[in-house]
Amino acid sequence: MKRKYNCLIKNHFSFQEYRIEPIRDEDMYSIMAFRNEQLFHLRQSEPLTKEQQEHYFGTVIKALFEAEKPDQLLFSFFHNDVFVGYGGVVHINWLDRHAEISFVMDTSLESTRFESYWQAFLTLIEQVAFEELRFHKLFTYAYNLRPNLYVTIEKANYKQEAILKEHCLFNGEYIDVYIHSKTNTPIFESILRPVNENDTKALFNWVNDPEVRFNSIQQEPILWEDHLQWFRRKLQDDATHMFLLEYAGKAVGQIRIDQSEEYHYIGYSIDNNYRGKGFGKCIVAQLLKMHPTLSFAAVVKKTNIPSIRIFESLGFELKENLSNHHDIYTFVKE
Ligand SMILES: CC(C)(COP(=O)(O)OP(=O)(O)OC[C@H]1O[C@@H](n2cnc3c(N)ncnc32)[C@H](O)[C@@H]1OP(=O)(O)O)[C@@H](O)C(=O)NCCC(=O)NCCS
Repeated sequence: MKRKYNCLIKNHFSFQEYRIEPIRDEDMYSIMAFRNEQLFHLRQSEPLTKEQQEHYFGTVIKALFEAEKPDQLLFSFFHNDVFVGYGGVVHINWLDRHAEISFVMDTSLESTRFESYWQAFLTLIEQVAFEELRFHKLFTYAYNLRPNLYVTIEKANYKQEAILKEHCLFNGEYIDVYIHSKTNTPIFESILRPVNENDTKALFNWVNDPEVRFNSIQQEPILWEDHLQWFRRKLQDDATHMFLLEYAGKAVGQIRIDQSEEYHYIGYSIDNNYRGKGFGKCIVAQLLKMHPTLSFAAVVKKTNIPSIRIFESLGFELKENLSNHHDIYTFVKE
């Protein structure tokens, strides 16, 4: 039976002809060989013995699968279903949601496959860390011994964040360590959850935001009492669903769908302090992902450029004759 990490819902990830799965016991001796051949760039001073490797797999690795918050997640890496390397996220910090990337490939393939395997592995490990675990940041920590590694990871949009000068003693010489990193995008990191009574005040503040009022059909400010009544009614209404977007533990926006005969009408807004960062597109995209089979519509003022861009970029189409107002567009997605 294939092993699974308890902390992951999805355990197998693929990209083109590459895939990863939770590290397999049967790969332990190949991994030992790769590591012993590549001691020069690893944080390992002596070659591993068979006994050490078996002990490590039987204790440390074995414990990772059951753990709720393991300090590392390791995977076997395959190209066209052939095992060609291993790696994962290590030194995981669950509080700050960051981790270091580790990857070692079959030594004999380094000369021909270094870049393509690194690129594929980064894509796969980002699926694990960014999409599945919603981590905030991934980084690499590398001795300044393989300049081709920086070129490769920078192509995958990792930015050089620091050079730790003369950081490690290597063959009688202090060498630099390079740190590259990449942060997650709001679409993966933020969470869309149903609203509840505790969100009454946040929604009230947002609905009276000047830009929200300006972009609404009815532009007068909303009174607290009216909001309370409306909100309670909407929470009970089966034809309405309201969600709140949270990022880094903070509420950043809301989206509502009101079911009519033909469409589910979308209304949404992003907190003024979080606009222009991609959350608007993210909240609509998450709603679509959550309800892939529903038909949606949205009425948007012709002057509301960010909202028009969002609906256009998410595959909505302009629909004629759905509204009597000359200053609004109606977008639909069927
Ligand atoms: C409309 C609203 C939700 C957009 O949210 P947002 O988080 O600022 O939008 P995003 O950052 O996802 O940007 C969406 C697009 O608009 C563009 N954009 C953002 N702000 C812009 C601005 N001030 N002018 C022009 N374009 C802008 C972005 O570049 C992006 O386009 P791209 O994907 O082509 O790069 C937000 O402005 C808001 O809450 N407005 C008030 C309420 C409202 O209008 N709701 C929508 C009713 S239909």
